[in-house]
Amino acid sequence: MKLSSEQNKFVDDLLSKMTLEEKVGQLNQESPSIVGGFDVPFEELIEMLTDGRISQEEFGKIMATATRDYHEDDIRAGKVSSFLDSDPRKINELQKIAVEETRLGIPLIIGFDVIHGLRSVYPIAIAEAGSFDDKLMEKTARMAAKESRAHGICWNFAPMIDVARDSRWGRVSEGPGEDPFLGSRFARAKIKGLQNGCDEGEDYVAACTKHYVAYSACEAGRDYNTTSMSISQLYNVYLPPFKAAMEEGACSAMASFNDLNGVPCTVNSYTLRDILKGEYGLEGFVVSDANGIKECVTHGMAEDDIDAGVKAMNAGLDMDMGTHIYYDHMVQAVKDGKVSMDTLDEAVRRILGVKVWLGLFDNPYVDEAVIAAYEKEVPKEHMELCLRAAEESIVLLKNEGDILPLKRDTKFSLVGELADRADEVVGAWSLGWKKEECVSVKEGLKAAGAAFDYYPVCGPESKINEEELKAAISSDNDLVIAVVGEYKSMSGEASSRADITLPGQQRRMLKELKEAGKTVIAVLMNGRPLALGWEKEIIPAIIEGWHLGIQMGTAIAEVIFGEVNPSGKLSSTFSSVNGQEPLYYNHPNTGRPGSKSKFTSRYLDAPVEPCFPFGYGLSYTSFEYSDLKLTETSDEIVAEFTLKNTGNLEGTEVAQLYMQDVCGSLVRPVKELKNYARINLAAGEVKEVTLSLKKSDMGFYDNQGKYVFESGLFRIYVGGNSRDTLVEEIIV
Ligand code: NOJ
Repeated sequence: MKLSSEQNKFVDDLLSKMTLEEKVGQLNQESPSIVGGFDVPFEELIEMLTDGRISQEEFGKIMATATRDYHEDDIRAGKVSSFLDSDPRKINELQKIAVEETRLGIPLIIGFDVIHGLRSVYPIAIAEAGSFDDKLMEKTARMAAKESRAHGICWNFAPMIDVARDSRWGRVSEGPGEDPFLGSRFARAKIKGLQNGCDEGEDYVAACTKHYVAYSACEAGRDYNTTSMSISQLYNVYLPPFKAAMEEGACSAMASFNDLNGVPCTVNSYTLRDILKGEYGLEGFVVSDANGIKECVTHGMAEDDIDAGVKAMNAGLDMDMGTHIYYDHMVQAVKDGKVSMDTLDEAVRRILGVKVWLGLFDNPYVDEAVIAAYEKEVPKEHMELCLRAAEESIVLLKNEGDILPLKRDTKFSLVGELADRADEVVGAWSLGWKKEECVSVKEGLKAAGAAFDYYPVCGPESKINEEELKAAISSDNDLVIAVVGEYKSMSGEASSRADITLPGQQRRMLKELKEAGKTVIAVLMNGRPLALGWEKEIIPAIIEGWHLGIQMGTAIAEVIFGEVNPSGKLSSTFSSVNGQEPLYYNHPNTGRPGSKSKFTSRYLDAPVEPCFPFGYGLSYTSFEYSDLKLTETSDEIVAEFTLKNTGNLEGTEVAQLYMQDVCGSLVRPVKELKNYARINLAAGEVKEVTLSLKKSDMGFYDNQGKYVFESGLFRIYVGGNSRDTLVEEIIV
């Protein structure tokens, strides 16, 4: 986001005309309050839907019948800056009040949680990041921006770029996985997709990077829990995606709920003012998370609401989501000198700047014709992009004896309630989809002409239906495709799980089928890396299908029948058992790396190795890496190697380059991803591949937050995952 000098002048002129009350009004975000029997703020209702306290159907009923207070009088009085909603006609109405009935005609900035698509829902972020396809990530974000704008939404609460290392945390589903480098590439792609339409004559929105910062480092993987870490860890692991997003010009950030080293991020001037606005140069503004300012009182960081508001404002938190604390107390706080006029002006200037950049002063309304077109159907190319994203995000975890792909006329039994749940394919934080546009695995297989009998048997929460299980066992079909995993409400916000194995009786279902002599193929449908030690031992073929969005069923069927050769890789490590969490590949070296000997960093009752490592994923063909050579230029290390498709099918490999700084002034990770590329190879084809590593990326942040490069020995690895690699050493 860059404003021209005329745009900056426009903002300054406007600011000079504003009263204290009007300025404070620009700090306030509202959402519709549901009145009449269901009196909770809209964002809480959304959270209830997301965390499963209410179902999609119940939500629909409430929305259809509830009376809503849209705070029109407050908008008219210039006391509302932003609104959270997705109904384009209502948005037009509210915007009309703001533009035509307020003294200064300042438009509202309409925000909404468009995390992985609005109507055209594409894979959850942890899945999409596994495509390692930056262009795809950008395109899906561009699609989300277009659909958002067509609904009057101009500010997406995305991308969620929390580096997440603990799979118990439910929100791992919403972000790009465990790696800061992949997370940074994801962040750049998403910011470009959401925002760059501005320069390219296409619809665009303002991005809101979240949750700033270190929210994912919550102790024990429990949502909202406390976080503490060294400055070097903060800078090396959790900040890089935010830094990358700011370099791409991200318009805003959302302060996270957690405290970091004892200071809630809502009132943390070190992370907000010094790092985000200072060091990274955020030009736009910071919004709290829902109710975040008030929660500082509960944290015990503020004595009361006024104190919390003053602390947040002085720390650089510009907009209040959902508490009314700025609305109620900021005028007085400025009059009392607790917050300076300069501080207030800075916040208002930032918010107005984003509104100007969005073009809202010139074009505040959604075109009726556009609304009508979307109501009828989503553009065909959006459906196609959702399908491509789903195809590229699928990870083949195991394929013993090349069971997959199946011949199209293979007869099989399909089991698992999830197979028939079109409403589950969209995953957590998806709010604008239509069920009739979602393809379940069962429908996908049917449409592909598969011959199967369906036995639901059980799902993530239901007990086994013994009759159905018996029927599946006694069926003539020797082959079983079992769709197992998690409901979408089992990941996302407030959905941490202490036990991340397959929930309910699904394991028992798989076991009984297996013991009855069936060949079982598991299709996983889940929002987090599951602990799959048992499944990896017992089940011969496993497809990681995540929650792939509205085209999930079509994509899964294509992979099962080999129309699509899987190419996705894991954006997160998978544990074998729960107790290994948090487990991640780029951990610092210990003095006693885990091995078979007793006095090493290991468990007595579980392996130290992951079940499936970061970057892992099979294909229906096979790839061979050889002849790694390193050369040094003035600013890069260049890795050249040979990649051969050694199988009989065309396929795409995600080649990955890792680095190890062997000895440093701080203990360095055993491996760090530094580059990757998707490479397509025909059967038998050989390619000479080059992946380079910038010297400027070979350093690290010390405990003062200073970036240092220390010359010495480096190991450079290339391979198809973080474990199985070639290695060469170089002194730089
Ligand atoms: C709470 C969530 O933490 C955040 O991700 C979301 O954007 C806001 N609520 C608004 O719904």
